[in-house]
Amino acid sequence: MILIFGCGILGQYLLKEVLQNTDEQVLCTYHTQKPQLSCTAGDRVCFQKCDVTSEADLQALSALCAGDRLRVFYCTAYHNIDAVYAHPQQAQKVNVEGLARFLEIVKNIEALYFISTDCVYGESRPDSKPFRETAACAPINAYGRQKLAAEQLVLNRGYHVLRCSLLYGASLDDNRKTFYDKTFAALKAGERVEMIDGLARCALTYSEAAHIIMRLVTEKKELPPVLNICGDSLITKYELGLRIAAAAGASPAQVVKISKEEGNKFFQDKRADVIALDSALLHSVECNLNA
Ligand SMILES: NC(=O)c1ccc[n+]([C@@H]2O[C@H](COP(=O)([O-])OP(=O)(O)OC[C@H]3O[C@@H](n4cnc5c(N)ncnc54)[C@H](OP(=O)(O)O)[C@@H]3O)[C@@H](O)[C@H]2O)c1
Repeated sequence: MILIFGCGILGQYLLKEVLQNTDEQVLCTYHTQKPQLSCTAGDRVCFQKCDVTSEADLQALSALCAGDRLRVFYCTAYHNIDAVYAHPQQAQKVNVEGLARFLEIVKNIEALYFISTDCVYGESRPDSKPFRETAACAPINAYGRQKLAAEQLVLNRGYHVLRCSLLYGASLDDNRKTFYDKTFAALKAGERVEMIDGLARCALTYSEAAHIIMRLVTEKKELPPVLNICGDSLITKYELGLRIAAAAGASPAQVVKISKEEGNKFFQDKRADVIALDSALLHSVECNLNA
C-alpha cells in the first residue's frame, strides 16, 4: 500500500500519478481539511485525518496500516518560512519531533521518500557552483535548519530524501488555493501584481515534480539516499510572474518588478537570494530508467 502522509498540494499531485501509473491501494492523510479532489473515484483511495503531533492519531494510523507493507511519501511539513520563524517550537513539533514519532510508531515501512527542500543548502554564492547533493549544508533560516534535522532522522533509518526546489502550480483541491492560483486569478482579472526581482530557484511545477518522483520510485530499484528534484536553470520570482501571466493570457506589463530590498520588507526570516541546484545526479538516475 502507498501512504501519502500529508496529502497537501504536492501530495495530491503524487496521488494523481499513483492512480494513473499503479494499481495499488492508497491511504492519504490530511490534517485540517479533507481534500476535495476529482481524481479519487473508485475504492482505491481512502483518507484518514492525522495530526503528526498527536500520539493517538499516529497510533490510529499505525493500526489502520497494520499488515500492509508501506511505501510512504512523507509530505507533511510546517513550511511557511515566516510562520516557522514566528513559532519555532510549534514548527519543531511537526517538522522534527512528529517525524521522529511517526518513524517509531508506523510499522512495516518498506520505503519512505521524505520531501525536503533546497533551503537546507543555504545561499548560493555568486562564484560557487550549483549545490550537488554532497555539498555542505548551511541553512540560513529556521525552516531550513528543521528540515535538515528531519533529513538526518530519515537517512539514519536508510530511507530517501528528495530535496525539492520551489514548486508552483494550480491546486487540485477545490478547498485550497496556492500562491499560483491567487496570482493567476489576479492577473486574469486585469490586476497588477508585484514580483521580486530575485529569489532565484531551479523551480518545477508540482506536476513535473510529482511525475519525476513517481518515475523514480516506481521504475528504479536503487536510488541515492539524497537527490535534488529541480529544474536545470534558475528563475526569479519576477520571471515566475511572467510565466503565470502568460498562462493567464494577461499582459506581461501587469507583472510589476520590485527590488529585493523592497521585497525583503515583507519577510520576517531570511530568504536566500539564489539557491542553484545541480541536477546532474537526477538526470543520471533518469537516464538509467530509460536504459
Ligand atoms: N511548495 C514548495 O515550494 C516546496 C518546495 C520544496 C519543498 N517543499 C516540501 O514539500 C512538501 C509538501 O509541500 P506542499 O507545497 O504540498 O504544501 P502543503 O500543501 O502545505 O503540504 C504540507 C502538508 O502538511 C500538512 N501538515 C501541516 N501540519 C501538520 C500536522 N501537524 N500534522 C499532519 N499534517 C500536517 C498540511 O496540512 P494542513 O494544510 O491541513 O495543515 C499539508 O497537507 C513539504 O514537506 C514542503 O516542505 C515544498
